[in-house]
Amino acid sequence: MAKKISLDRILQSQGFGSRKGCRELVEDGDVRIAGEAVTNWRTEFDPDGLVFTVFDETWEYREHLYLVLNKPFDYECSRKPSSHPGVLTLLPQNFEWRDVQPVGRLDYDTTGLLLLSDDGKFIHAQSSPKRHQPKTYVATTAEPVTDKLVAALLAGVKLHDEPAPIAALSCRKLAENSIEIVLEQGKYHQVKRMLAAAGNHCAALTRSAIGQLQLADLNLAEGEWRYLTEAELALLNQD
Ligand code: URA
Repeated sequence: MAKKISLDRILQSQGFGSRKGCRELVEDGDVRIAGEAVTNWRTEFDPDGLVFTVFDETWEYREHLYLVLNKPFDYECSRKPSSHPGVLTLLPQNFEWRDVQPVGRLDYDTTGLLLLSDDGKFIHAQSSPKRHQPKTYVATTAEPVTDKLVAALLAGVKLHDEPAPIAALSCRKLAENSIEIVLEQGKYHQVKRMLAAAGNHCAALTRSAIGQLQLADLNLAEGEWRYLTEAELALLNQD
């Protein structure tokens, strides 16, 4: 039998504040289910598939959040951003209360595909180096992309502080000053450092894919986010 939970607990689990705050929301008539204000926070519901409104905004109960954001330029992935706004400010406020975090980081000046979640297991599985999840980047280069550059990135370049040369999984010239680079690792400023080590300079960077999940298929403008679908999650969990 489905487990029923009191409304204050459900709201708290969805990031609408402290237990006390959630009880107040309910008592004030700000929470509606099936069009009716529920004013007794002790009322129990089966959370699975529960649709409710808080201040007239509609939500569906989700045990965990799995999100994708098209990260804009000039946003930091850090949870305590220092000199640029944080990516979490692009999400609803209650997601931050749920402790949503980016899965890995993009630099403040990198745009593109960023996953976010409040599921520690998912974050760990996706960001673990053991997973070898390939990440695809498109870099605009200051100098033209040459065959020599592509060959150097495929053969491996020596980065400061790295014991062995690091190679791209694959790499191809897209245009005179544009290159696609697929990496298995997620080292600090890795694309920028690899391009510099190979004698070029990264002028702009976008992450275009994580594993089989392609930014171009997601229909997200810069700064937009949405929930990942089951099919997209399955793509990410593929080996
Ligand atoms: N490589 C970089 O240099 N920056 C990023 O944001 C991601 C990969």
